[in-house]
Amino acid sequence: MAYELGQHPHWMHKEIHEQPAAVERALTGRIDDRFATAHLGGLGLSPRETREIRRVVILGCGSAYLAGRLGAQLVEEVARIPAVAEPAAEFRYRNPVIEPDTLYVAVSQSGETYDTLAAVQEVQRKGGRVVGVVGKVGSAIARECGSGIYLHAGPEVSVTSTKTYTATAVAFALLALHLGRVRDLSPADGRRLIAGLRALPGQITEILASEERIRDVAARWASYPGMLYVGRVRGAVVASEGALKLKEVAYLHAEAYPASELKHGPLALISPDRPVVAVIPDDELRDKNLGTVAEVKARDGQVLAVGHDLELKASADEVLVVPRNERELDPILLGIPLQLLAYHAAVTLGHDVDRPRNLAKSVTVE
Ligand code: AGP
Repeated sequence: MAYELGQHPHWMHKEIHEQPAAVERALTGRIDDRFATAHLGGLGLSPRETREIRRVVILGCGSAYLAGRLGAQLVEEVARIPAVAEPAAEFRYRNPVIEPDTLYVAVSQSGETYDTLAAVQEVQRKGGRVVGVVGKVGSAIARECGSGIYLHAGPEVSVTSTKTYTATAVAFALLALHLGRVRDLSPADGRRLIAGLRALPGQITEILASEERIRDVAARWASYPGMLYVGRVRGAVVASEGALKLKEVAYLHAEAYPASELKHGPLALISPDRPVVAVIPDDELRDKNLGTVAEVKARDGQVLAVGHDLELKASADEVLVVPRNERELDPILLGIPLQLLAYHAAVTLGHDVDRPRNLAKSVTVE
């Protein structure tokens, strides 16, 4: 069946709204309730090989890299395997040390991004093992890796990644669960994460239902020259991806910074016309994040808090609330309102949302 825009004004809008279905598909056939784990047959790793993994290194570009950063966080937190993500081009040009007990993971929705493909080849040339987390079946990166996880997110027409970013994050949550259950993650924690994963589609639908409220904030804030996005640990990657979306479609300068680093420089940027988007998960760092909000307010900055409760209203000027899931999975939900914020800012400013200037859907050259 042809992929059609339907009642949506733009592909980006349609694809943001397709996320509940994309997540549902990413999970289909991959949950094993009996052993509280994820089935990822395409990975091609035996339990013994899986146990021998000492490190995970994730490679990708742009939003794929940022989804990889979220993936690294999930793998380290859930499976307790040291994990990092690195932009693929940086990695391939710095003559990286390739280790036999490291699992390299190449991330790409198109499967054709040149720098990511070259990074895969660099790993393989040095004898490393690389698997793909890829959108397009049979694409160059999928073929080069030969094993991995397909996203099953469906087509993405808009240049801006939204549903493939979220589906990639879900694929990494499954990978983290799989790696964790071969190691020390308890069955109870496995079941807890599975329940969380299953709740995601319904919770994303709930967030999408608050679109009017997000549109209203975006319409008012689109007139500012730029925004600062801040978050700590689980919120940091969400801030980075939110800022990338705003730059990409609204052409507004958006800088993402770890909230903990504000006082080491970026606090000088705070002024009434450069608002701050603060990502505030309901975790052990909530009070520190509220401290950051207070620091910004004390310098006459405006704050939009993206978190899980309206109590944030006591600290911030604007609040976007998303439902709570498990702490490990909350970053997936916290990113959704920021996609809509960027989308509606771009629409307010009259930009070509689906084909932002100077950008291509897939970068197949260096
Ligand atoms: C993000 O919205 C962009 N589409 C871009 O950063 C993209 O994620 C990057 O170019 C990598 O593309 P890929 O996933 O097809 O490899």
